[in-house]
Amino acid sequence: PASDDGDGPSTAFRIDSEGLQRQIDELASFSDSPAPSVTRVLYSDKDVQARRYIKGIMNQLGLAVREDAVGNIFGRWEGSEAGLGAVGTGSHVDAIPFSGKYDGVVGVLGALEAISLLKRSGFQPKRSLEVIMFTSEEPTRFGISCLGSRLMAGIEELAQSLRMVVDNQNVSFLDAAESAGYKMGPEDLHSVFLKKDSYSAFIELHIEQGPILEKEGIPIGIVTAIAAPASITVEFEGNGGHAGAVLMPARNDAGLAAAELALAIEKHVLESGSIDTVGTTGILQLHPGAINSIPSKSHLEIDVRDIDEKRRNDVIEKIRQSATEISKNRGVMLSEFKIINQDPPALSDKSVIDAMEFAAKQLNLEYKKMISRAYHDSLFIARVSPMGMIFIPCYKGYSHKPEEYASQEDMANGVKVLALTMAKLSLE
Ligand code: GLV
Ligand code: MN
Ligand code: MN
Ligand code: MN
Repeated sequence: PASDDGDGPSTAFRIDSEGLQRQIDELASFSDSPAPSVTRVLYSDKDVQARRYIKGIMNQLGLAVREDAVGNIFGRWEGSEAGLGAVGTGSHVDAIPFSGKYDGVVGVLGALEAISLLKRSGFQPKRSLEVIMFTSEEPTRFGISCLGSRLMAGIEELAQSLRMVVDNQNVSFLDAAESAGYKMGPEDLHSVFLKKDSYSAFIELHIEQGPILEKEGIPIGIVTAIAAPASITVEFEGNGGHAGAVLMPARNDAGLAAAELALAIEKHVLESGSIDTVGTTGILQLHPGAINSIPSKSHLEIDVRDIDEKRRNDVIEKIRQSATEISKNRGVMLSEFKIINQDPPALSDKSVIDAMEFAAKQLNLEYKKMISRAYHDSLFIARVSPMGMIFIPCYKGYSHKPEEYASQEDMANGVKVLALTMAKLSLE
């Protein structure tokens, strides 16, 4: 099947673009902030509604639906050789505060449309095909990105630390999970670890979240590597006090220490000399947060990424040194400097890249090989399966904001490439 116009067998390879858009819009209505923004945080009521919605579509498609202890959701189309490793695909539907409706969602609803398309076209899988909706790709609630896929990849320290973590309302991970219908004992976290060779390949469809494909007018990106992400939390503590009464020489202002560190981070990142190094202080909180009180505590959350792991680590080391120096110079205490994650980059597997290229060529779609600067669940699934990612253009490269948008045509192209890639890998 090479085109979706005309009659005959190619008609069966037509994407239901309107249906897909309807689903995307419907899912976006499960949000804790007003449209067009989307806010859907792990284990919130809206997240539970979104989960129910995804399971409903999986059931309608006749997939066997299963959930693991933390709520990774699997919809399986059994192949004729069900004992072989499956071909997996999927993404996430959690959304950071005031973001858009396409990040992650295209890779879940689009994957389900790809399955539907293969079913409609009469395809018979040999290896089973499986759509995964990962739990909490975004770090919003517990500070841990790609929570579900990290656990699936068998990271023991995470299974340990998840027993202890709390959100900013002091709700524990285990209690939050239970409130969403996932009651588990601490030992159950290990049951999320994937068995060896569960997947022979994993492919994630995602909007680019960058401007390249749109600018160059290329419909498909084939991802060859995912950049290395890291995140750090820092806290300073000072004496605080009255904003009028405490004179400047007597102060040790934790807020100014934070401001100085945020600027130092920008400087260290720029001094790497590489356009590929990025650093962001996305959270900066002051306590007590009153106009007439000197900040006695500050809390920063810092995101640092690079395609070069060593260069990123060098920046992290400089941030650590700056934090120590600033605390000395300002007489504040550096009460926390914690590296939350410091992940290596991941490479796509040649077998999956080859299949994606084959599919794009079959469909007469121009493609470009590129790296992913955003992270994805694929970063961790790559540890337990050959991995590849398909990117589609998005408007001006916008993401993590309400203006995020991908056209129906671009989504349809991505779904077709995904379907054909999965079909090919299923028969291998
Ligand atoms: C994922 O959302 C990322 O921040 O790359
Ligand atoms: Mn995101
Ligand atoms: Mn995403
Ligand atoms: Mn992401």
